Amino acid sequence: MALRGDAVRTKILELLQKNTDRYTSGEDVSQLFSISRAAVSKHVSVLRGQGHEIEAVTRKGYRLVRKAEKMTQDVVRQGLTTTVFGQHDIHYLPSVGSTNLEAMKLALGDAPEGTVVVADEQTGGRGRQGRTWHSPSGCGLYVSVVLRPDIAPNEAPLITLLTNVAAAEAVQDLTDIIPVCKWPNDVLIDGCKVAGNLTEVFLSGDSVGHVISGAGINVAPLPEKLVPELRTVPCSLEEAAGKHISRVELLQAFLTRYEHWYLLVTKQGFAPLLSRWKELTDVVGKELTVQVRGETFSGTVVDVSTDGMLVLQDENGIEHSLFSGDIL
Ligand code: BTN
Repeated sequence: MALRGDAVRTKILELLQKNTDRYTSGEDVSQLFSISRAAVSKHVSVLRGQGHEIEAVTRKGYRLVRKAEKMTQDVVRQGLTTTVFGQHDIHYLPSVGSTNLEAMKLALGDAPEGTVVVADEQTGGRGRQGRTWHSPSGCGLYVSVVLRPDIAPNEAPLITLLTNVAAAEAVQDLTDIIPVCKWPNDVLIDGCKVAGNLTEVFLSGDSVGHVISGAGINVAPLPEKLVPELRTVPCSLEEAAGKHISRVELLQAFLTRYEHWYLLVTKQGFAPLLSRWKELTDVVGKELTVQVRGETFSGTVVDVSTDGMLVLQDENGIEHSLFSGDIL
């Protein structure tokens, strides 16, 4: 069966990506995918139009110089193996106030589960507890996904942990560094925050209607002037890994990891996800202080409950189950 145009382009791109050290002849591409030489040249033009830099030399062939960096739907879909996340609309915006707010509007307009909003820059990026998420152009991955989970409202905090796991695993996929998950939503490398998520739940009567899960991952260093305002010292994947990180590949990894855990939760509930989150955190057993809406609780973390609450035992042996808060 003949492949669809975008499927052929994905294959051509994969082929060129495997052979960046040499030229691949138009004849080889045409034979491999059973298409004419003219069709090969057309597909290469489309790939170039998408932002891929492809060199063409007479009698030698094609060579991929650099993959596209813009997170447009076509580019993100190339090689994306998910079935739901990113397979509906991917709304790519060069600049937006907040991807979460944009995704919220789409969800209210019946956007299906798995709809993605991604931006190069956010002018009003939102963090937890009303904080700002600095989102300068090109410095990070700013992405939100629309979810319509069949869960009880008390399970909603677990979606924060799911997003936390997906972000941590995507970070590991791209950097080979195993990061640490900090309850409830931070991803740390050597104690520095590289990612956070803001998961917003919308109830419909007594049940969960839709959820917007937004993740921010620092890819390149933030401009100096923004850093002192931040609560936890931030750092970026490029600083930690010492190499260029493609935001397109990071987004693909995030959506793939997200889908894996989300579909598993649908089939098996939250238990496997919670065990995975516990593998990635070092919070259990730690003595710490947590601020919850102006009140502070100090003690030893004895567990994270099945509904995602941090269980802190104070010096009098009393256990406090904290739904949300900031570890100080
Ligand atoms: C935090 O650590 O406080 C959460 C940060 C969440 C930031 C992301 S960036 C994409 C999405 N859009 C927003 O406005 N916020 C989230």
